[in-house]
Amino acid sequence: MSSPAGTRARRTRPSAVPGPVRTVARWAVRHGLPAAYLSRAVGRGDLVARLMRDPALRAEPYALYEQLRARGPWVPSALGPVTTSHAAASALLRSDRFGVGFDWSAAPRPVRWALAVGDDPTATGVAEPPSMLVVDPPDHTRYRRLVGRAFTPRATAAAEPLVRRTAEELLDRLEGPAARGETVDLVAAYAAPLPVLVIADLLGVPGDRQEDFLRWGAAAAATLDPGLPFRRFLTADRAMRALHAFLAEHFARLRSDPGDDLVSQLVTAADGGALTDRELHATVMLLLGAGFETTVNLLGNAVVLLDAHRDQRDALLADPSGWPNAVEEVLRHDSPVQITGRMVRTDTTVAGTELGAGTRVVVLLGAANRDPEVFADPGRFDVARADVREHLAFSAGIHYCVGAGLARLEGAVALRALTERFPRLRVAGRPVRRELQTLRGFEHLPVTLR
Ligand code: HEM
Repeated sequence: MSSPAGTRARRTRPSAVPGPVRTVARWAVRHGLPAAYLSRAVGRGDLVARLMRDPALRAEPYALYEQLRARGPWVPSALGPVTTSHAAASALLRSDRFGVGFDWSAAPRPVRWALAVGDDPTATGVAEPPSMLVVDPPDHTRYRRLVGRAFTPRATAAAEPLVRRTAEELLDRLEGPAARGETVDLVAAYAAPLPVLVIADLLGVPGDRQEDFLRWGAAAAATLDPGLPFRRFLTADRAMRALHAFLAEHFARLRSDPGDDLVSQLVTAADGGALTDRELHATVMLLLGAGFETTVNLLGNAVVLLDAHRDQRDALLADPSGWPNAVEEVLRHDSPVQITGRMVRTDTTVAGTELGAGTRVVVLLGAANRDPEVFADPGRFDVARADVREHLAFSAGIHYCVGAGLARLEGAVALRALTERFPRLRVAGRPVRRELQTLRGFEHLPVTLR
């Protein structure tokens, strides 16, 4: 049930369609139509459409989540039934009656045409097949098997010295600004480069392309959101092309000179027929992008929360064994991934509601993580919360985050190192949120260090 693009593209001969038309078709079907649809739904008072379209509401979505929760486990919305319920979210994410592949076969002909001609392997984003995020078994199972080996608990634990060294090097660079009493953007100086450098190292891609990765990653993150305005889409589309071009060169280098990293293994697997070239691109692009676009948000959100709860930060300074639990509480309280979706594959009932095959459902992970049925006083930030690991910030079921262990390690090591090096760190000025729907974090985070 994944993309029909491959087969239909051949029928409509997309190569015969001029490039600019293909780009517009691509934007129209993935962003233009959803934007128009969501805007109309906003006019009808649809709360979920408002959440998607209104940055001010997204900056503080938790009151709206409670409004939705008060209406029951499932609320109809323009995007399909939406749930804020932890029980419903947990059940459906783990159920094989739900999938991620979107069935476009019943879409109107012009939409299918636009999908086919807009399909472009040189610009495919992380939310398009064959990215494993949006692919069902059996292909999904094949991809997970290939990448899983590099993210076992043992492999992740082996990355600890790398994470620690990277954190310390970045903190060393902050000593100068700290001594001069300067205000520093902690996202640019620490929260963003740390996971980029780590994932680049783990994947064997050159860390000196950090600036490019950040730009490309931001584009990839934007393409997760439906309804991008045309200009932002063009910027993102260009960035995705540049990323794919970089990957093509990188794979060519590894073919002649493989290392012992995951990407070299994937290139070899692709050459052995285990992955197509397009699948290889999609898999590495997703690992690279997901490897830092989410962790940067975890780190930024944590710094702001700990600044607002200095007693808890002091407690962590006094007893650093609390950091892993504190990371879980940040993930729960202000989840870096707020929303995901699934398609119903077979008629089913979840939390007392019948859902017919072909229905698209929306899961508000950030709301499920504040469900009072599971978490006592869920709006309270408490780094010592006992049952915090029940959260769904890494999703659940077969799409459970591949990098959850790495993200947890990075969170605990990076936050502890930062707090111990600069115990008087303070947020100085208003942090600026990222203009995103799916991901939640800060674009800029001004701090003073001493
Ligand atoms: C705080 C950091 C992170 C958060 C909150 C996070 C969250 C998530 C979530 C919610 C999903 C599943 C989405 C769904 O079910 O629809 C996911 C999937 C994924 N994540 Fe993460 N992630 C983080 C860090 C990482 C890192 C460091 C990597 C690096 C390898 C990574 C790689 C992936 C991949 C490859 C998938 C796709 C899994 C699949 O579809 O089977 N993530 N992540």
